[in-house]
Amino acid sequence: MPNMTFITPSGDRVEVDAPIGLSVLEIAHRNKVELEGACEGSLACSTCHVIIEPEWYDLLSGATEDEEDMLDLAFGLTQTSRLGCQIIMTEELNGLVVRLPAATRNMML
Ligand code: FES
Repeated sequence: MPNMTFITPSGDRVEVDAPIGLSVLEIAHRNKVELEGACEGSLACSTCHVIIEPEWYDLLSGATEDEEDMLDLAFGLTQTSRLGCQIIMTEELNGLVVRLPAATRNMML
């Protein structure tokens, strides 16, 4: 079983199983990692924003234009930002490391 690591805003590393075919968002939810994903992966929010560790970024298949548009709305956008619901786990991504941004734009609190 491949695995992946989430780095929380406070710097903790959470290593979890990452079944092939699941999105990073689904993997986060299965493991109670706090990644929101308000639209459940339909590219209608940017609350699943994650920051890919640079060494992994080029291994991901490119973002679609729709994803780019949504990402532009994400709070704290970086050069290696992606939407977690659009990254699908593959064998190649075994060991993937992503950071959770400190804040998202969904100000529901
Ligand atoms: S969960 Fe809304 S865009 Fe990813």
